Amino acid sequence: TGKLSANIAGVDFNGVLINASGVHCQTEKELDELLNDDAVAAPVTKSATLNSRDGNPKPSYFEFENGSINSMGLPNNGFEYYLKYVETHKNNKPIILSIASLSKSECVKLLKKVQDSNFNGITELNLSCPNVIGKPQVAYDFAATDEILNEVFSFFKKPLGIKLPPYFDLTHFDQIAQVLNKYPLSHVNSVNSIGNGLLVDIDTEAPVIKPKGGFGGLGGHNILPTALANVRAFRLRLNDSIKIIGTGGVKTPEDVFAHILCGADLVSIGTELNKRGIGIFRELNNGLLDIMKNKGYSSVEDFRSALKES
Ligand code: DOR
Repeated sequence: TGKLSANIAGVDFNGVLINASGVHCQTEKELDELLNDDAVAAPVTKSATLNSRDGNPKPSYFEFENGSINSMGLPNNGFEYYLKYVETHKNNKPIILSIASLSKSECVKLLKKVQDSNFNGITELNLSCPNVIGKPQVAYDFAATDEILNEVFSFFKKPLGIKLPPYFDLTHFDQIAQVLNKYPLSHVNSVNSIGNGLLVDIDTEAPVIKPKGGFGGLGGHNILPTALANVRAFRLRLNDSIKIIGTGGVKTPEDVFAHILCGADLVSIGTELNKRGIGIFRELNNGLLDIMKNKGYSSVEDFRSALKES
């Protein structure tokens, strides 16, 4: 293990930074750029659905100071496109295959295809997309989540994690953790965007994005406290074998450090990656190494999950 490393389900990561699914990962070209960047521990693919999708009407993404709001609606090139990519790429870096399900039957169908494929890396099931018109965020329904995982783990034997929405009530953390601890999950990825925010432009007197009357998922630096709380709450409740990918609010090396301190094994960058481009990975890696040097830490293991009392 190096200075910056992680291990999820036996897969070694040579670094701690990854992209947040949805950002810089829809096309082969974007995925190749992540794959070939030494500061990226692993590319994560855009959440794939069985059929390709154009997504919601535009504008569906808007950035503001320290934040973003999106209602992309899962635009993606279709499951087969991403499966082929993860099966055939030549780099030996790990890749995380993200799958979104529009229904339980579609989810089962996709995971059966992954099970039967040559891909043996980590798959992540996105049960938290807030932007598909008419579909709820599955992981807010604890019984439905339990039912899906129960069915999935009856046949799925490869590493599988789950992407969660943010929770805001300690009882909800207890309840969802109780469900998740029943299954051999490789990891949880916490958090997806904070669903259904509304940002209005007072000049046009209209929302800044078009779909769903302007309602969309919030990301960016503003959501850091919610993301850290979710990472921490899950690290305190989940079995040790379930690792955590911390997603949300990362803008600076200090934010990466805080995520790891709260329990993150890997940390993802979404809004800021979109804003600053893939050079951000090198900057954050170097900044994190500087913080560690100043504190006398030689590896992320020295402070991971080690949040102190105030
Ligand atoms: O904020 C999000 N936007 N989260 C998702 O899971 C999907 C994405 C989209 O495509 O709408």
